[in-house]
Amino acid sequence: MKLLVCGGAGFIGSTFARQRVLEYGDEVTVLDKLTYAGREENLREIADRPGFAFLRGAIEDPAAVSAAVAQGAPEAIVNFAAETHVDRSISEPDAFVSTHALGTYVLLEAARAHGLRYLQVSTDEVYGSIEEGTFTEESPLAPSSPYSATKAGADLLVQSYFHTFDLEALICRGSNNYGPYQYPEKLIPLMILNAMHGDRLPVYGDGMQVRNWIHSTDFSRAIGQVLEHGVPGEVYNAGGPDEQANMTVVERIIELTGAAQSQIEHVADRPGHDRRYSLSSEKVRALGWEPKVRFADGLGETVEWYRGNPSWWEPIRSGEYREYYERQYGRALG
Ligand code: NAD
Ligand code: TYD
Repeated sequence: MKLLVCGGAGFIGSTFARQRVLEYGDEVTVLDKLTYAGREENLREIADRPGFAFLRGAIEDPAAVSAAVAQGAPEAIVNFAAETHVDRSISEPDAFVSTHALGTYVLLEAARAHGLRYLQVSTDEVYGSIEEGTFTEESPLAPSSPYSATKAGADLLVQSYFHTFDLEALICRGSNNYGPYQYPEKLIPLMILNAMHGDRLPVYGDGMQVRNWIHSTDFSRAIGQVLEHGVPGEVYNAGGPDEQANMTVVERIIELTGAAQSQIEHVADRPGHDRRYSLSSEKVRALGWEPKVRFADGLGETVEWYRGNPSWWEPIRSGEYREYYERQYGRALG
């Protein structure tokens, strides 16, 4: 396939782009604004492959989107482009509204104008928190944070383009992803790098919040499966095989890195913190997908990747992230 992958320089988008080019032989054009979270070097492995192109531009910019469609001549748009960190959506929500609402609208218009299939990458967070049981695609949307509320708004707009304009639009909602190339503001890479550096491990509240972890290669495969075989207008959930309380994740990272228990620090809880996420994936499994990576294996491999790739994270830990960390946690990284 020929794909336009928006937000393809980020964590999951670059995993998906690598997978599609290297394993499926697709021709991929990436359009990415390169915010703090996007890095062209995440695509280094496929930069010289035939049919691959990288374009810097914002999805809310119709000229940039038009140019990307003209250059890549794609059959489908896959949209990963988003602001993705809940804590940043609490302190600075502006970009969440513009990227998710306006950006998704501009992409949908482009897909409509050129008759393209459209896949929106979304999240389990649009369903809100669930104490027991699991969310299905029929569960009502009840987002809690500016991040999840603007993602839910984008999902509704995507569905409206299917109903109103017959656009071949699909939505794939993933649970919490982890794996190589994840920006260290998120729980797992933050804890791995802090553990390795002797920094404090800041656990929000009691640390008993539960997340349903999925490896980014498994989520990327689910997105590919929905793109190829999904029914337009439908939503497909892709949840990982394991649920873990945050404290269990932190304890396991301490074991894997040889860090000290005394590095754990319970800090003030996130406002509006969702207690538990859990997704049922029966519908995407019926398309022939299943997750391959169990959390215990994937976490160990992820720790090894961060250990082996200081050239990836050193520039991040010494740049914008350092200032963000001080603002967010009220202490400097060591
Ligand atoms: P990320 O923050 O690592 O990457 C986001 C990418 O989008 C970056 O490359 C950034 O430069 C780009 N971007 C941001 N705003 C843009 C704009 N206006 N125009 C063009 N590019 C822009 O995010 P991620 O974790 O890889 O998440 C990718 C997608 O998957 C998001 O839509 C997110 O909501 C969804 N998702 C993430 C998770 C998770 O656990 N990380 C789980 C489920 C779904
Ligand atoms: P995060 O990686 O931000 O993902 P999300 O909020 O989208 O689930 O956080 C995962 C969990 O870890 C969430 O319950 C919040 C918690 N957390 C901490 O306890 N400390 C931290 O420093 C961070 C970033 C997250």
